[in-house]
Amino acid sequence: MRNARHGMNNNYTFTFTLGGVLSRVFIEHELPAAEGIIGAGNGLLVCDTHTEPLARAIAGNRETPCCKLQAGETAKTWQSVETILKAAKDAGLSRDGVFIGVGGGVINDLTGFAASVYMRGAELCLVPSTLLAMVDAAVGGKTGFDLFGAKNFAGSFYPAARVYMPATSLRSLPAREWKSGAAELIKTAVLDTTGRLMEIMAEGDALKPLVSGGALPDTGILHEIIAQSVLVKGRIVEADPKETGSLRALLNLGHTFGHALEACAGLGALSHGEAVAWGMVRACELGLSLGRTPPARSGRIIGLIRSLGYETAAPHPLAQDIEAFLRVMAGDKKKKAGSLRLVVPDEAGAALVSAETPLLARIIGGR
Ligand code: GLY
Repeated sequence: MRNARHGMNNNYTFTFTLGGVLSRVFIEHELPAAEGIIGAGNGLLVCDTHTEPLARAIAGNRETPCCKLQAGETAKTWQSVETILKAAKDAGLSRDGVFIGVGGGVINDLTGFAASVYMRGAELCLVPSTLLAMVDAAVGGKTGFDLFGAKNFAGSFYPAARVYMPATSLRSLPAREWKSGAAELIKTAVLDTTGRLMEIMAEGDALKPLVSGGALPDTGILHEIIAQSVLVKGRIVEADPKETGSLRALLNLGHTFGHALEACAGLGALSHGEAVAWGMVRACELGLSLGRTPPARSGRIIGLIRSLGYETAAPHPLAQDIEAFLRVMAGDKKKKAGSLRLVVPDEAGAALVSAETPLLARIIGGR
């Protein structure tokens, strides 16, 4: 990993090597221009009904074909992949053409998958437009779509060659989106063994205005938070790009509980981040019960999550059926050799553990 911070303008550039592929991340204030991304070749912009204005602004005066999908998780289907592939074919995109995904996690994952199979692999660039996509989906090369009723059931590892993170696209994010992204930031801060991300977020209570819809922190702090989060995730995925070891699995802190909560509450009832925040509280409690999470650390993490207004009570008001919850958890696709791997905070980062069902039932049920 190489990284650089440019002078006074708070911009950052990181270069990660993911499974032998170079992936560069640019954290800048302004939107990138299609002209600069595509150069003399051809490209296809992929956006949704929310991010079309951003895609148009990126295209500028350049005639760049644009494939627009419906916004939201329900569009994360094989049909959408086919729509993107057809748009690329109709636009005459050659194998050296560039797919440019402009949007949140759904658009990032769909465009990544389409690029990974188009003529056996075309160049992928991503312009994540939400905090959640910047600090999670756009970094690390996971692509995919939902299938057979399961989230991200099909996909590939296909890192974007370039990821542009324009902070300006965050200015119009609704508070709920900020809250969703902030939970992933907290997760990454728990995994940051240097403690730096937690420190930056604590400066002037940087997360509070984000999650409450108040004024955003200044560009310098916002860029620094995103940069440190990208750096922590980038280092983890560099070390374990395809989650074959035990390192990348740590990024699932709060997610096994959180995904089950999302499913039990009904898709869309909670944002991903709200579910992950609740899941991290359960992970702390599990770590405490197993003697893996020091009480002071658990107290600090839970205190931070609670202070930002996330629901932390167990059982969750939208998921009172503990048996059903356990059944959903048991079906988690992150199982290895048939057993569920859960992530709990440890002294300075996080660790993988397994847990017996009666203990999980007590944690989920708040008993
Ligand atoms: N979202 C978790 C990962 O990228 O591995």
